[in-house]
Amino acid sequence: MKIFQDHRWSIATGFILTLVLVFVGVQSTLAHGGHYEPISVDLLVRWAHIIAGITWIGLLYYFNLVQVPSMAGLTAETKADIFKEGSIVRRALFWFRWGAMFTLIFGLILMAKLGAHASTDIKIGAAFGIIMWANVLFVIWPAQKKVIGMVEATAEAKLAAGKRALIASRTNTILSIPMLFFMASSAHFNIFN
Ligand code: HEM
Repeated sequence: MKIFQDHRWSIATGFILTLVLVFVGVQSTLAHGGHYEPISVDLLVRWAHIIAGITWIGLLYYFNLVQVPSMAGLTAETKADIFKEGSIVRRALFWFRWGAMFTLIFGLILMAKLGAHASTDIKIGAAFGIIMWANVLFVIWPAQKKVIGMVEATAEAKLAAGKRALIASRTNTILSIPMLFFMASSAHFNIFN
């Protein structure tokens, strides 16, 4: 079946399943005399923000927990293979940086909606998120382009870029933990009251 063979179909199926459940939920609520406030874009943006966020941070953890620790054991040929167009690292970096972009865009929309009501907790979570996004865009991605050979670089420049990317990536791993804590606490239990 296509939905198990092609990941695009699997993802589309997830969206369809959501729509079906929302439809059933709305019907059942209305049948029991319940009512809704006008449809909230806030919910949709929040959903999109979380999907983009897990895509981004999921890949950040993949890089830190799986890919980087495995690199030392790889031969130069294997590295060249996984760095080339259309292969593992390029695909991972593609979703990683677009995940970061869309997380930021949806996050800023949520922030704009909160306006003056934004709590200190969400300001801390969002500030860490924005630093992490800047790290992806201005440090990790330009450095990785050299490492994987998308941009010409000498062997020393590649080595330096690899080190720079690693420090930025580890920084993001550190920041991701409090970032997520304050992102969630802002909606469920404010620490800074
Ligand atoms: C890139 C910068 C980011 C900004 C500016 C940002 C901003 C926000 C804002 C304003 C909210 C809404 C809070 C509210 O309505 O009270 C929110 C919620 C949320 N964000 Fe972020 N965010 C960012 C990154 C991330 C990342 C990387 C993740 C990782 C998955 C994430 C996960 C979440 C979750 C799970 C919620 C929902 C919390 C809840 O309602 O329980 N955010 N974010």
